[in-house]
Amino acid sequence: MPRFSSDFLFGVATAAYQVEGAWNEDGKGESIWDRFAHTPGKILDGMSGDVACDHYHRYHEDITLMKELGVDAYRFSIAWSRIFPEGRGRVNEKGIDFYRKLIEKLKSVGIRPVVTLYHWDLPQALQDEGGWENEATVQAFADYARLLFRTFRDDVDIWITHNEPWVVAFIGNYEGRHAPGKEDFGAALRVSRNLLLSHGHAVRVFREEGVKKPIGITLNLSPVHPARNDEETRKAVRRYDGYLNRWFLDPLFHGRFPEDMLTFYSTKGFSIPQFNPQESALVSSPLDFLGINYYFRSVVAEGSEPVLETRLVESPDAEKSSMGWEVYPPGIYEIIQRVTRDYAPKAIYITENGYASFDVVSPQGSVEDDKRIDYLRNHLLQLSRAIAEGSPVKGYFVWSIMDNFEWSFGFTQRFGLVYTDYVTLRRIPKKSFYFYQNLIRKRALE
Ligand code: FCB
Repeated sequence: MPRFSSDFLFGVATAAYQVEGAWNEDGKGESIWDRFAHTPGKILDGMSGDVACDHYHRYHEDITLMKELGVDAYRFSIAWSRIFPEGRGRVNEKGIDFYRKLIEKLKSVGIRPVVTLYHWDLPQALQDEGGWENEATVQAFADYARLLFRTFRDDVDIWITHNEPWVVAFIGNYEGRHAPGKEDFGAALRVSRNLLLSHGHAVRVFREEGVKKPIGITLNLSPVHPARNDEETRKAVRRYDGYLNRWFLDPLFHGRFPEDMLTFYSTKGFSIPQFNPQESALVSSPLDFLGINYYFRSVVAEGSEPVLETRLVESPDAEKSSMGWEVYPPGIYEIIQRVTRDYAPKAIYITENGYASFDVVSPQGSVEDDKRIDYLRNHLLQLSRAIAEGSPVKGYFVWSIMDNFEWSFGFTQRFGLVYTDYVTLRRIPKKSFYFYQNLIRKRALE
């Protein structure tokens, strides 16, 4: 029976735009996600995060649920445009007040606040000046970060600069499925470079301000497996791994982009400068931990994708979530082991892991989400295996405490331990809520 130590952090996660609602209240400025979701045709069900779970007004109730669940920590993000409605300059005190109250409430019930500075909702005013493609946004982010470090300092237990910069860069600017909705590979590369620089500046500012808590970054990582056993496929795997994993890991830990990828991109007509020595030192400023979001593995073959010349291959017999994501628990073990071996982070937090399903409330009022329970149990089993073999994993956060606005999928995907009724906004704990509660109580998997 795998056990977790008493100081292992069990948590749940959300992001501002996905749960808060109150999109234009108390002086909040417009973000790129407000703009994107308000654009017809961008969101599968035509919905937006205008109201979402109304966490902005119902956080008391939600924290009471978290307390009942027994979590040690709550990971949430701060909406930049609540703090700086225009992205920089004028501070909106009411925005700060909201997060201050949220943090105080968490602390009053003994739940540790874990804050992500950027979970994709750039102030629209900055996008109007080029967004993350413009280096001026790097400075604006550093200023935003400084204000939050000064305001909340050690009241936040763990600080995370960015959530999934790969998604921000490539889904937002190459695939165009996320805000700001561009389809330009060169733009995506420039964005990824500026995101890494902005992360480096935020860490520098954090150290300057003398905050005593840990700071890190969260990446979405996925083990890349070959669809076939031949040389072309092996090359495709290496490229895809460079694109998804090493493109961020190498700069963060070694201060440079992977050379094979720079060369490859330049053969495709995209030149992106390597970091100069000063930038290199900044981007690879020592981190207190690496955050990993893990959902699925990637099975790859050579393919016709115009830049990467790869394609993702579905495993025909694999179990999938309602997102269409393959359920592959050994992948969490594999990615943790690989990161530990190749990059040796001081600590690792699994900052997201979870399962989407078409949950329904039974006539008796319960939600029997046994598949989610299996998913969580099997991933935690693999996680404990990695810990037993020496990986420094210090905590695990379920995505998500409650069903919420799943970006371009709108409200069609339910990831919660708690069911959200989007008509009444009633919260209904699912069976998996009680599974997680029991696990946290016992600190062991049965
Ligand atoms: C991750 C995001 C998170 C959530 C999950 C399902 O990529 O960080 O906001 O949408 O996927």
